[in-house]
Order: sequence, then C-alpha cells, then structure tokens
Amino acid sequence: MAVDIIVGAQWGDEGKGRITDLLAADVDIVARYSGGDNAGHTVTIGEVVFKLHLIPSGIVHDRPTCLIGNGTVVNPAVLCQEIDGLLRQGVDASPRRLKLSRQAHLITAAHIALDKAREARRGGEAIGTTLRGIGPAYTDKTSREGLRAALLEDPQSLTDAIFAHVGQKNEVLQNVFGQQSLDPGKVALELSAYANRLAPYLVESSAFVHEALQANKHILAEGAQGTLLDLDHGTYPFVTSSHPTAGGALTGLGVGPGAVSRVIGVAKAFTTRVGGGPLPTELQGPPADRLRGTGENPWDEYGTTTGRPRRVGWLDTVILRHAARINGLTELALTKLDILSGWDEIKVCVAYELEGQRIDYFPSELKSLEKVQPVYERLGGWPEDITSARRLSDLPRNARRYVDFVAESSKVPVKIISVGPARQQVVWDR
Ligand code: IMP
Repeated sequence: MAVDIIVGAQWGDEGKGRITDLLAADVDIVARYSGGDNAGHTVTIGEVVFKLHLIPSGIVHDRPTCLIGNGTVVNPAVLCQEIDGLLRQGVDASPRRLKLSRQAHLITAAHIALDKAREARRGGEAIGTTLRGIGPAYTDKTSREGLRAALLEDPQSLTDAIFAHVGQKNEVLQNVFGQQSLDPGKVALELSAYANRLAPYLVESSAFVHEALQANKHILAEGAQGTLLDLDHGTYPFVTSSHPTAGGALTGLGVGPGAVSRVIGVAKAFTTRVGGGPLPTELQGPPADRLRGTGENPWDEYGTTTGRPRRVGWLDTVILRHAARINGLTELALTKLDILSGWDEIKVCVAYELEGQRIDYFPSELKSLEKVQPVYERLGGWPEDITSARRLSDLPRNARRYVDFVAESSKVPVKIISVGPARQQVVWDR
C-alpha cells in the first residue's frame, strides 16, 4: 500500500480537515507531518462539530491509528486538552489510537513568550502569527537547541533541559525585549505533569510508518497550513516556519518519494488568508463580507485557532499552478463551491500583470508580489442552491463550467467538490 498526501494549495484553511475526514474511513493511519497547534481543522459529523489543532482529523473515525509525526511541533498542554476534549465527546484518543513521534519538538511557555515579544517588536510589519510559539520552536530545532518529545519519558533529563532552555530564553526576553523572565521551576513542574500523561503515546515514528507500509497498510498524510505559507515556497517572510508542502510530508514522516501514490491539493473555490502579507485577489467591502459570512456558522471565514476574520478574495489559478508544481499534485479537492451560489458573475484570476508585463507564474519576491495586478476571466454565476448536489450532473451548467475552468487553468483534475459542511455534501468525480 502507499502514502497519500493532503496539502493545502492556498494559504491554509482550505478545508483539509474536511477532505481528510472523507478519505480517512478507508485508511489505516492518518498522520500529521508539519506545523503545530497553529492549525485548526474543523470536522462536522451530524450535529457534532470537532475542532482539532494537533490531533489528525482521522481520530473521529473508528478505524485509523493517528500519528503526530516528527516534522511537527507540539505544545504538551494543548495536546492534553485536545485529548480530554475528544474523550468528553466520546472519541477514543488513548495511546492505542494516537501516537506521538519521539522526534517531534516541544513548544514551551518560553517559545510562546518569544513569539509574542517578536511580533510586538515588528509593529506594523508584524507577520500576524497565531502566537502559539511555532516560529521560536522551529528556530530552536534548526539551531539544534530544541527539546524533542522523547524527553517526556525521562523526567530528570526533561527538568534539566527545561532549566537550561528557560534560562537561555530569559536572557533574550529580558535583555533584548525588556520582558519579564519566566520561572524555570514552574515551567518544568507543569511540563512534568503533562509528561506523565503523554509518555505512553511516544513511538519511533518512522519505524512505525515503515512497518505499516511493509504490512501493506494505507497511510494518509494530513497537511496543515498551505503551500503559500511554506517557509521556502510561500510569501516569505509572511509564512509559517515549517514545510506544509508534499516535500515536508516526506521529511515530516520519514518516508521516501517512492511510497507516495496520490498528492491531493485542497483549494477553496475562492481565496482566503489570515495574517499579513500579499493576497493579490483580495476583496474589500460588501463582496468580501458576502464571501466571509457573518461568523454565525462554524464554516464562516473566521480563524479556528485565533477567531480572526479571514481576508478573502477571488480564486487565483496562478497560485493553484504554483501549488501543482511545488507539490506534484495529482488531483484537486475544491471546497465551499456552494458559497459561490447566487453571484451573477464570478471572477477568476488567470495571470498577473507586473510592470506592464503579463506573467503567469507566482513571483517569489515580496516586492514584485506587492505590485502585481490580477488579470481576471469573468465566468457566469448560478442562482441555484447546490448544497444537495451529489453527482457532477446535479450541478448547474455554470457551476460545472467553473469546476472545469479550475481544472483546465491549474492543469490538475478536480476529483472532489464539497458543497456544504456535512460529510455527505460532496460531489465525487471518480
Ligand atoms: P505561525 O505559524 O503562528 O508562526 O504564523 C505564521 C503565519 O501563518 C501567519 O500569517 C498565520 O496566520 C499563518 N498560519 C499559521 N497556521 C495557519 C493555519 O492553520 N491556517 C491559516 N493560516 C495559518
């Protein structure tokens, strides 16, 4: 069997949790490969809405085992809260169902304090991070000063490491940012309580994944964030600190490219982003409000993790082609097509104009991105409510045309279309 990878094709929040949920019923393992609790995945089953940040969305199914892979950064407090929340909702999140890589890195109170201090220092240039300590935890990983999850099963080493870590971060917090220092004893005490709980979840994750592959098991790698937030391929520096792309799935789980069968790019039928940085097709005023929703529904465009209203814009196929190239997408899942019902006309960005020249690639430099003007194609809208469509033939002609247009201009077939938040509100093109 093989690994199928789910990646976000835009700036995150594309509905990856929703697509993972659709595919998870038939797989043996669902694994998160990058990011931490900056992610927010919403899965709606009947009346119940599950909001997950760290634990793979596959946990709400009975069958798959879930793995938090080596490429992730984990706040033990958040993980324990999430496990408790699932148990309260009747979901088994015991070590039998959920595994945590010994090589995942820990997020501490000091990382969170640093994230806040750095963002405050950036002022008007702030990245708009989720303030969850993600950047500082990955910085420690790459500077080879990080704290790996394996420490959770060695209480003395954990305490020693936390004292050294907090001591070092206190110097920066006090001397560089003029902030209060943290009490290392308090941080160590809190973490040792979580360590007791989480130690039974630890595994040698790449061996776990390889054994599964050898036993012919099917693995779904669940992405967080999106291609445009990738540290290398996104809108740097307005990105996250990890690799939410297909390459990140390989290193983030410890598998080679030969094991990969499908790479499914999830894209919203329009575009959203949270935080700062360029968004070439951004809309303002009433059209933006209409796409965003009022915030009354869990699927409206307000951050699952931070509650921030998302910036919204028309679909950008320059971005989709970029995502197709970076990730080697084999197919697209198009989400929230139903939100476009009722518009007379829908615009889709097909290229950019940069200093009088038409370009059809996504420029890597912020200076260029800030100057690009979207070139739009105008497509006819459809008045019909499409939330009960289940086959392609149920969609109105213009909605089908929209889907075909997305596939043609991104050069990737659209295989899954979501037309509502519920599990069954899906059109498959098999
Ligand atoms: P960080 O990952 O908290 O460092 O935030 C860096 C950037 O990535 C900010 O613009 C965040 O809004 C964005 N970001 C991080 N995680 C997500 C996500 O799950 N969805 C959408 N944006 C995200």
